[in-house]
Amino acid sequence: MNTDNIRNTHYKSICVKDPSIENNHGHIPPIYATSTFTYEDLDAAFAFFRGENKIPIYTRFGNPSVGFVAQKIADLEACDVDEVKEAKGLLFASGMAAISSALLSQLKSGDAVLCQAVTYGASSDLIHNSFKALGVESVDSDFKDMEKVKRIIQANPTIRVVYLETPANPTLSCVNIKAVADLAKQYDIKVIVDNTFATSYAQQPFRFGADIIVYSSTKFMNGHGTGLSGAVVVKNEEDFQKAYKIQKNFGGILSPFEAYLLNIGIKTLPLRMVQHQQNAQQLAEFLSFHPKIKKVNFLGLDSHPDQELAENQMFGPTGMMSFELEGGLDAGIKFQKNIKFCTRTASLGTTDTLVTHPASTSHSVVPRDKRLAIGITDGMIRSSVGIEYIEDIIADFAQALDAV
Ligand SMILES: Cc1ncc(COP(=O)(O)O)c(C=O)c1O
Repeated sequence: MNTDNIRNTHYKSICVKDPSIENNHGHIPPIYATSTFTYEDLDAAFAFFRGENKIPIYTRFGNPSVGFVAQKIADLEACDVDEVKEAKGLLFASGMAAISSALLSQLKSGDAVLCQAVTYGASSDLIHNSFKALGVESVDSDFKDMEKVKRIIQANPTIRVVYLETPANPTLSCVNIKAVADLAKQYDIKVIVDNTFATSYAQQPFRFGADIIVYSSTKFMNGHGTGLSGAVVVKNEEDFQKAYKIQKNFGGILSPFEAYLLNIGIKTLPLRMVQHQQNAQQLAEFLSFHPKIKKVNFLGLDSHPDQELAENQMFGPTGMMSFELEGGLDAGIKFQKNIKFCTRTASLGTTDTLVTHPASTSHSVVPRDKRLAIGITDGMIRSSVGIEYIEDIIADFAQALDAV
C-alpha cells in the first residue's frame, strides 16, 4: 500500500478552517463554557421549544463550541463523496457514548444486531450484553462469506442493524463495506461503521454505502490524548433527528472544552496520518523479518489476509498494528517490560508510539474462548505507531526484543 500517497484535496482545508461562530471573530472559536444561553428574544426561545429554530438555549440541546466541530467531522466524512449530499454530526462524551447512542437510535426491544466478530472489547460487551438486557439480540459474523451473511439475515428477520468495525481492533481484519451495504439495503437494514482506526483520512464508509459512522474521536481525531470524545455522523435528516433525540434525552454530550481540544487536534490530522502510516510501514517491515516475531498484523504488508481489500477501500494502512512473539504470553510481558522509549498504555492514535496487551486491557471483557477464536491470542501485542523519528521507535523495539 502506498503510504506516501497524501490526500491532496479540499479535505485538508476542512481540517484546518473554522467558522466564525455567533459573529465572534476570534481566530480560534471561543469555548462557550456555559450551561445556558439567555433568551435575548423570548419569542425565538419559545419557537425553539416548538422545534421551529436552532438557536443556542441549553448546552445539552447544543452548544456552538461543540456544534461546528461535529459538523467538521461530518464534512470530512462526506468530502469528495458524491453520493452524500448533506452529512451531519453529533459529538458525545466518549466513543462508547457515541456507539451506544447510534445503536439506540436505530434499535428497539425485539430487534437484533448482526455484528462483526472482532470489535473493540467494550463494543462487543455493549452489543452482546448491555443491549441483550434491553431485549436486543445479536449474531456474530466475520463477513468473509457474503452468501453465509445473506443466510444469517434471511434466517433472522429481526436484524435491523449491521455493526462493523473495519479495520478492527486489534487484528486489523477488514470487512468489504460495499458488499455488506449492498446486501443490507435489500433487507432495509442500517449499516453502522466504527471508523476509529482509519479515520475519514484513510477511509470514508459513506463512499461504500454505509448509513451511519461512529467514532472514538479520543484516538487519531484528537490525536494528542488530551481527552475523550465520540462522534456519530449520519447522511440524512431522519437519522440525525433520531440520534439527536437520544443525545438530548440520554444526555451523553461532549463538553465545550473537550470539543475545543478535539478541533485543535483535527487541524493536523492529515499530516499526522501520513507520518503514522509511514512509520508504521517501516516498523512492520522490521518486525516481519525479526526472528522472535511469529506474525505481524499490518495492512501495509502483503502477508495480511485483508491487504487487497484494504488497498481497495482505504487510503493507506493507518498507524495501527498488532503482532505475536515466539514464546506467547511470557514473551509478550517481557517485551512490554523492556520498552523504554515508547509508551506502555492502553489507548491509541496519539503522537507517541503506544504499546499495549489487548488480552488484559482493551479486550479483557471478551470471554477467552471467543477471544482466541477471533485471533486475539494471550501473547498478542498491539501498537499504535506514533510520529517520532522512526529510528528511535525501531531501536526501542529492537532492544526490547533482544531482552525477551
Ligand atoms: C475501535 C474503538 N471504538 C470505540 C472505542 C471506545 O472509545 P472511548 O474510549 O472513547 O469510549 C475504542 C476505544 O479504545 C476503540 O478502540
